[in-house]
Amino acid sequence: MSEASLLLEVEGLAKRWPGAAAAAVSDVSFALAEGERVALVGASGSGKTTLARLIVRLIEPDRGAIRFAGRDLLALSGERLRRLRAGLQLVFQDPLAALDPRRRVGRQVADPLRVHGLVPRADRPAAVAALFDRVGLDPALAERFPHELSGGQRQRVAIARALACRPLLLLLDEPVAQLDVSVKVQILNLLDRLRREEGLAWLLITHDLGAARAASDRILVMAEGRIVEEGPTAAVLAAPRAAATRALVAAEPRLPPPEPDPGPQPFTAPSVSPRTM
Ligand SMILES: Nc1ncnc2c1ncn2[C@@H]1O[C@H](COP(=O)(O)OP(=O)(O)O)[C@@H](O)[C@H]1O
Ligand SMILES: [Mg+2]
Repeated sequence: MSEASLLLEVEGLAKRWPGAAAAAVSDVSFALAEGERVALVGASGSGKTTLARLIVRLIEPDRGAIRFAGRDLLALSGERLRRLRAGLQLVFQDPLAALDPRRRVGRQVADPLRVHGLVPRADRPAAVAALFDRVGLDPALAERFPHELSGGQRQRVAIARALACRPLLLLLDEPVAQLDVSVKVQILNLLDRLRREEGLAWLLITHDLGAARAASDRILVMAEGRIVEEGPTAAVLAAPRAAATRALVAAEPRLPPPEPDPGPQPFTAPSVSPRTM
């Protein structure tokens, strides 16, 4: 990886939440190159979300440095921070929490176009329609409110809004954790297509090793606030060294062995999930 292609460099980052006995993020360092797909895995509570929120400066670190596109992210403020910040976009696990319930989703996708002055007012409706199209949504859905969309559609809206900023890096925090299996695959495929078309890099935070295998070339494993193992995804998961990585691999759900045919069963109605596509 050449120095010139480094997109994100995190150095000695640390954050302890007020009142917590231990740091949520402890001395974390890693780098990510332009266009690279990196997964960040770890047990619940290991500090993944805190790390992502530090990188986008939603919260301030106690220590450490963050360089993005060659610039010191922590040294910037105001308009210059806002402009650089547009290049790295965080997509949350729960798009319903990330979207304003009282505003039509098209307006929310248009926000970055307006805030960052990317598209003149007269051209914004067409730009929003094009963004909807890019993420596989009917542009007519722009008139809807978040609760009028399915979980998968809402996540597509959140991705469209992130893309509107023309990012170089997506931080994806469990982006498909709340979606049904078939919708998960669609969203991961969509993300991968967009990544290839745009030359985006991403940091995919997930506890799903299957998603990490499919959607990353390099993997970082986090435990108790630290990165405990790092390397090519396939190699690390095939021969995990750190105890935390071994525990994740051991806990991975396997396809169950085929069961003997139990014969005809009484019909029971399938339970209906509120988060279907
Ligand atoms: N807003 C917060 N206030 C206080 N403690 C927090 C907050 N967010 C996370 N934590 C704590 O920080 C630790 C790491 O949490 P988190 O970063 O959410 O981990 P992960 O995303 O890997 O599940 C946990 O102990 C969690 O309880
Ligand atoms: Mg988390």
